[in-house]
Amino acid sequence: MQNKPRLMVVDDEAGHRQMVRAVMQDEGYEIFEAENGRKCLVQLQKNPVDVILLDMKMPVLDGMGTLEQIKKRQNPPPVVMVTAFGSVGSAVEAMKAGAFDYLTKPADIDELKVVVKKAHEYSLLTRENTQLKDRISKLQKSARIIGQSMAMRQVMELVEQVAPTEANVLILGESGTGKELIARALHEESARSEGPLVKVNCAALPEELLESELFGYRKGAFTGAVQDKPGRFQLAEKGTLFLDEIGELPKHLQAKILRALQERVVEPLGSVREQKVDVRLLAATNKDLDIEVKKGAFRQDLYFRLNVLEIMIPPLRDRLEDLPLLVSHFIRVLGDKNRKQVRGVDRSFLEALNNYHWPGNVRELENVVERAIILSRSDVLGVSDLPAAITDSFSRDKKNQSLEVPGDDYLKESEKEALIRALRDNKGHREKTAASLGISRRSLQYKLKKHGLIRPH
Ligand SMILES: Nc1ncnc2c1ncn2[C@@H]1O[C@H](COP(=O)(O)OP(=O)(O)OP(=O)(O)O)[C@@H](O)[C@H]1O
Ligand SMILES: [Mg+2]
Repeated sequence: MQNKPRLMVVDDEAGHRQMVRAVMQDEGYEIFEAENGRKCLVQLQKNPVDVILLDMKMPVLDGMGTLEQIKKRQNPPPVVMVTAFGSVGSAVEAMKAGAFDYLTKPADIDELKVVVKKAHEYSLLTRENTQLKDRISKLQKSARIIGQSMAMRQVMELVEQVAPTEANVLILGESGTGKELIARALHEESARSEGPLVKVNCAALPEELLESELFGYRKGAFTGAVQDKPGRFQLAEKGTLFLDEIGELPKHLQAKILRALQERVVEPLGSVREQKVDVRLLAATNKDLDIEVKKGAFRQDLYFRLNVLEIMIPPLRDRLEDLPLLVSHFIRVLGDKNRKQVRGVDRSFLEALNNYHWPGNVRELENVVERAIILSRSDVLGVSDLPAAITDSFSRDKKNQSLEVPGDDYLKESEKEALIRALRDNKGHREKTAASLGISRRSLQYKLKKHGLIRPH
């Protein structure tokens, strides 16, 4: 049975291709060659591979251009960039554009084997659940929901399953956990996505206003009602109505909502005629509705209706492993918004975030990152850019316990990036690079080795 892993080496230097062929064939790979990016893309059309080794500098279509095209394919294989040592900066760009890893030329044979093997394992792993991952990542992209923790994956899976149905969904979670984000995703992934998504915050309006906002009124229904006005139910026709903070809904409006759900009609104020409505209802609350029902503050029959499906978004402190991704996301988005180029965060910054209990969840994190972006004088955010509430609890905890930091890879990456940047800025001069990083030459040497930026002897 022919079941060899397939490796494509894309390079304009025939010598390099031959070297890779010789080494990797021995490792059990089937090798395909292409001498430039264009040929690589043509071959991939008919001949999918598991891993691609891609040279940066090539005629016709260079590495970056090719990577971009490969990434547009469905289920792209992992791409390892190959670059001359002097141009590692562009390799970092390539990593940002989605390359799996990179190697410097002339290639170290052991490193070549290790990196290709890692890439192959990665491609096997991703293939296993590509279908689900595909759907989830599409969802994450379109809804910009960030999170790889088990808890968030489960939320996303549920969204995927539930969105296309007509079921009412109750979204639960503490303040700032992303309830509105999930509501939007449910709408956008549904058959009603072409229709409107209308939101009502039940806590934001006084009772009388809330009623007319929800159901509308007829001209003359009360003083000041000079013309007919449709309610949010009518405005959401053929779309989705999102009732936020439903726990604050007054009792007599609960009855009217229940009727709208059961009989699919609403009655505008001052009207004698009912109006048919075709609306899917999503609701959110940070209250425990079970308790509200027991207290008699919330109608049980409405609770059952709303709660056909329940999506519970866990608080951020229970999924701290999502911190690094969320932080990168907010740095990108909020850096652009504030017109500041921020490259990353240092280790202490993430450690402090990791030690904090996040009562305001993702919204609080978003605010903290934005504040740091605005305050920071450097393009790497540090612990001094954080508010006292966070650093205080950090230094307190630090005395008592050792630190556990999630996303160690991310930290490694950001250190590696910082090294590469400093090397580039100082044109590879070790002494100056060490000085610019505020570390000794020896520890620079150590770090360069650790990150594979120079070869261990
Ligand atoms: N998983 C996530 N990925 C990216 N951004 C997120 C995520 N979760 C929340 N956010 C962002 O955090 C902020 C708060 O989210 P959202 O308004 O959806 O929370 P909420 O649960 O409705 O809060 P509240 O209970 O205060 O109404 C928003 O700016 C949202 O975009
Ligand atoms: Mg909200």
